Amino acid sequence: MYARKSEGKELRRGRSLDNRTVSSSFGRGSTTIIFTLKNEVGGLIKALKLFQEKHVNLIHIESRKSKRRNSDFEIFVDCDTDHEQFKELTELLRKHTDIVEISPFDGSALPEDVISQVCVCLDCVSDVPGVPWFPKKISDLDLCANRVLMYGSELDADHPGFKDNIYRKRRQYFSDLAVNYKHGEPIPRVDYTAEEVRTWGVVFRELHKLYPSHACREYLKNLPLLTKYCKYSEDNIPQLEDVSHFLKECSGFIIRPVAGYLSPRDFLAGLAFRVFHCTQYVRHSSEPLYTPEPDTCHELLGHVPLLAEPSFAQFSQELGLASLGASDDDVNKLATCYFFTVEFGLCKQDGRLRAYGAGLLSSVSELQHALSSSANIFPFDPTVTCNQECMITTFQHVYYVADSFEEAKNKMREFAKTLRRPFTIRYDPYTQSVDILEDTNNINSMVKDIRHELDIVEDALNRLSKKLQSL
Ligand SMILES: [Fe+2]
Repeated sequence: MYARKSEGKELRRGRSLDNRTVSSSFGRGSTTIIFTLKNEVGGLIKALKLFQEKHVNLIHIESRKSKRRNSDFEIFVDCDTDHEQFKELTELLRKHTDIVEISPFDGSALPEDVISQVCVCLDCVSDVPGVPWFPKKISDLDLCANRVLMYGSELDADHPGFKDNIYRKRRQYFSDLAVNYKHGEPIPRVDYTAEEVRTWGVVFRELHKLYPSHACREYLKNLPLLTKYCKYSEDNIPQLEDVSHFLKECSGFIIRPVAGYLSPRDFLAGLAFRVFHCTQYVRHSSEPLYTPEPDTCHELLGHVPLLAEPSFAQFSQELGLASLGASDDDVNKLATCYFFTVEFGLCKQDGRLRAYGAGLLSSVSELQHALSSSANIFPFDPTVTCNQECMITTFQHVYYVADSFEEAKNKMREFAKTLRRPFTIRYDPYTQSVDILEDTNNINSMVKDIRHELDIVEDALNRLSKKLQSL
């Protein structure tokens, strides 16, 4: 899930190891630097000498095991520095360490010339000048899947679980599971409490009353398969690991646990690799039919049945691919299109409106509202939809209807061509990576692949026609 209110700029905002609140300004003041060191004798002393060499005062220092590479360490440093010292220091650190993240202590955006200096993490450096870093292979999602912006283990004062210490402890448990997850590992199985299962049961029961008359055909086709293969039932919360295996076989999508809201950029990047970020916690039991943030009921009942559908999976992936390396403005447009399709989309089937958006299929009240005569409904058109305001705490003012996922995909494809990105991207399903088509070599290689695919099609047609002639 992603946070609607956040912007792409969030990627460069400061966060320390423990998400402490930040204060002060960049002119001269406290700055946070996180860098990675290989686990070798004397590595830290060598790095700290660079601070000494540049006369930068250390205010606070701590270390932790790297979440990106188990054998390495991340060093967190608060230091007192001015702009010039900072630039020189980052130059030096770049030569001797991997810098993970740097921020001025007020959490504001860094000056542009400093930004160009600080994007020097060996894994996260952008290899296309002027283009934001983006994951090139599926395991690169380990680098951005934990940049949680909202909720996670912390709750707002108006969250139903805010005053419930047991619930908050439970949320911390789920947050830790997600934060420690790495691509390729099995998703930890959760022993859900009786209270959590009861809450899930209420949501499950109430929504199932509406599905036959409100959900789209594809949803209704896949739901019984989830009962059969992933133990969907009123008294059992399915395990993400089982659901991930099921989706992989149906559409190539897999699930990755996430602690809370991601930025639109990070969330859409997952879709590009057919990875769907899912929460694993359950909403607070005091309000089973309301949650201020997506929970596992929303993911499992809203998203999963459609993600099993190949045409919908393709649509979702293309949205993700269009976002890789796009400008903040374009990412927000794509995220808005995502919001009004994958989350709140409607389609027309057999002359009737049906829901395919997960935000609708997991909300009893909004599902009824969206298909009622009081809802405002317009045809899906990305050039218009991308500017629509997304409502977070109320029903949407407008819903968009597509004739099919195929139609929505074609419209999104045309829309993606209008975005300002200086290159084209192609997904390679064999390596689960993306190729940037910017030189004749990789375009030629793509042509060879297409030629090979066409040979297969030709061969199949020849064999079919011989078979038909022999009848
Ligand atoms: Fe969602």
